[in-house]
This record gives sequence, structure tokens and C-alpha cells, in this order.
Amino acid sequence: MNLFDVYPLYNVTPVKAEGCYVWDSNNTKYLDLYGGHGVISIGHSHPDYVKALKSQLDKIGFYSNSIQNPLQKELAKKLGQVSGCDNYNLFLCNSGAEANENALKLASFQTGKKRIISFDNSFHGRTSAAVAVTDNLSINAPINLQQEVTFLPLNKIELVQKEIDKNDVCAVIIEGIQGVGGLDEGSSNFFQDLQKICNSNKVIFIVDEIQSGYGRSGMFFAFQYHKVEPDIITTAKGMANGFPIGGVLIANNIDAKHGMLGTTFGGNHLACAAALSVLNVIENEDLIENVNEISAKFLEQIKKIPEVKKIKGKGLMLGIEFDFEVAEIRKKLIFDKHIFTGGAANKKLLRILPPLNITNGQMNEFVDALNEIVRSDIKK
Ligand SMILES: Cc1ncc(COP(=O)(O)O)c(C=O)c1O
Repeated sequence: MNLFDVYPLYNVTPVKAEGCYVWDSNNTKYLDLYGGHGVISIGHSHPDYVKALKSQLDKIGFYSNSIQNPLQKELAKKLGQVSGCDNYNLFLCNSGAEANENALKLASFQTGKKRIISFDNSFHGRTSAAVAVTDNLSINAPINLQQEVTFLPLNKIELVQKEIDKNDVCAVIIEGIQGVGGLDEGSSNFFQDLQKICNSNKVIFIVDEIQSGYGRSGMFFAFQYHKVEPDIITTAKGMANGFPIGGVLIANNIDAKHGMLGTTFGGNHLACAAALSVLNVIENEDLIENVNEISAKFLEQIKKIPEVKKIKGKGLMLGIEFDFEVAEIRKKLIFDKHIFTGGAANKKLLRILPPLNITNGQMNEFVDALNEIVRSDIKK
């Protein structure tokens, strides 16, 4: 059987990883500034994480959601404590798209309405409602277009108000910081006004923290910079350092009913053990402090490259913008300098999402490599 060919692939085959490094099948070592697309939060193969998963597997790896699973309660408690969002309830699922799908479904259950407001350049996943609220028609099939979605520009609150006044909107969904779209974000005023308008019109305010959450922005959740309290927060990527998991954090004003949401695999024993281990490491190793320290030093260094026109994002979720397309730079970074980075819908932007325990030395290695590539291209 062949693989269904949906991904354009770089010709690199990682076989081993440790901390911020990955080795391929030729034993070439790469510095990982992409973190497997923002997934590797505590570093590859962190010893505590490996130990936690192995020891859980020796006990029980999986049972269904029809029995008691104290690990789920332990995870909810720890997540509440580490994130500061301890007044939410947790629903566990298996991916980012699934988290958003459930968030949107809950909003529709709660309000009895079905139109959703999303934002230009947003990315929320590839399943039914999640892809419909993603601003990319080319990844929506005709079946996805049954959803009623209105896309608006960021930071234009009057346009949001005008749509909500039509009285048919169940939810507003916004990324803490846009990932795939290219690191744009709403202002604090915009987030605060969104919350106000949503609250006073009984519209559910959903913040997608799937990429920007789990300390990546320098706060546990990026929306915490704006001092808002969303009705629903969705998480995935960094949550279990590569073990598939998603989470929906649901405010107390939304009532649960049996059968409303459900999943076979969500919240299984292994996933909970992995997610608990991530939270313990984030806490024990002060990783959010590390994000802020490393980010500040990196910003000083990267600004010294004159071709860098703008830096977007926060913490270790950063976009380095040039006034030319970066595809060639990314290729040279991988194949000549052995450094993984990411791209974005904005083709002039290099996206970096390194493990949160990266060091200054490793970030400087990247700055030097980037500087050399840009310089050599200019000389040609
Ligand atoms: C902001 C955001 N939401 C949702 C998703 C979808 O997550 P998943 O690929 O786990 O379904 C992504 C993935 O890149 C994302 O960046």
C-alpha cells in the first residue's frame, strides 16, 4: 500500500532526537527551531517525560471513558494550577482540530445559534467546523461550506459589533497569536472589547491557544497578556510534547450534559501521563521564565541583521519578516546549516517555534547561520 500523498516533504528522515537536536538517518545533527510545528515544548526525549510514559505503559496504557480515570482529574487540577485558569472545566480529546470542533459545537449547543465569526488569515484545523472557520478556501471541501462563517479583519471591533447585532452568532473564535497565518495578533483593546461584546450578547468567546499556548508566548496562554477571560480555551500541540492530545477548557457558565461531547481515545492513561509530565517539567524547570529571557536576548541579536524588516509574535513564537520570500533561506538553513525552521502563509516570514528549554547559545547559532546565508545571497 502507498501513502496518500498529501504532504510536500523535505528529504530528511529524523531517527533520533534529544533536547533541541534531531539526528537523521545519515547521523546528521540538526538544531530544531521548529519543534515539530510547535509541538515539542519541553525538548525532545526529556528524561522525565520518557520515564513517565514508560512507567505508565507498564501499568495501563488505555481504557475507555466509561470508567474512572484519576489521571484525568490530576491533569485538570495541575493544568488549572500551572495556567492560572483553575476556574475552568476540562474536556480531553486528541488534536487541535478536534478541540476547536468541540468548542464550536459547545457554543452552538449553549446558544442555540450557528453562525460563527472568525478572522482573516486564521487557521483552526482541518475537520468540519474547524476548517470552515479557517480562512483558506483551498483546504475547504464543498461539504465544509455548509457552516455559516463570517471572516472579519483583526482589530476592527465595529465590524464585529455589526455582525453580532444580527443576533444569529453563536461564537467568536480567535487565535491567541496567529500561527499558520503569519504571527499577527489582536490588540489588548480588541481582545477586551471582544469579550465585552460577547458577554453582553451571550455569544461564546473562544480563544484558540493550540499553537500560542503552553508557555510559548512567554505567558502560559497568549490571551493572558490582554487580561481577558474567554468562555472557552482550546489547546493541543505543546500539551504532551508529541503525544497526541487536545484540551477544551470550558468556563463554569457553560453547563455539561451527558452525551454532549465524547471520544474513544481522548484523555487516555498514556496521554494524561505525557501531559502531566509536560506540566511538571514546565513548572520545575521554570520554562516560561526561560522563554522570556531567551526571547529578549534573541530579539537584540536578530535586529542586527539589516535585512530583517520586522519581528512579529511573542516569546518563542516568532516571525522574522524580510522584504523577499524566504523559501530559499529555509532550504539553506536545513541543508547547509542543519537548522529546522518553519514558514507561514505570509511567504516573506520565517517562523520559529523552538522547544521552550532552548539556550542562548543555540539561538545565537541560528542568528549566525541566518546572517551568513543572507550575506552570501547578497554578494551573489
Ligand atoms: C492555531 C491552530 N489551531 C488549530 C490547529 C490544528 O491542530 P491539529 O493539527 O492538531 O488538528 C493548528 C495546527 O497547526 C493551529 O496552529
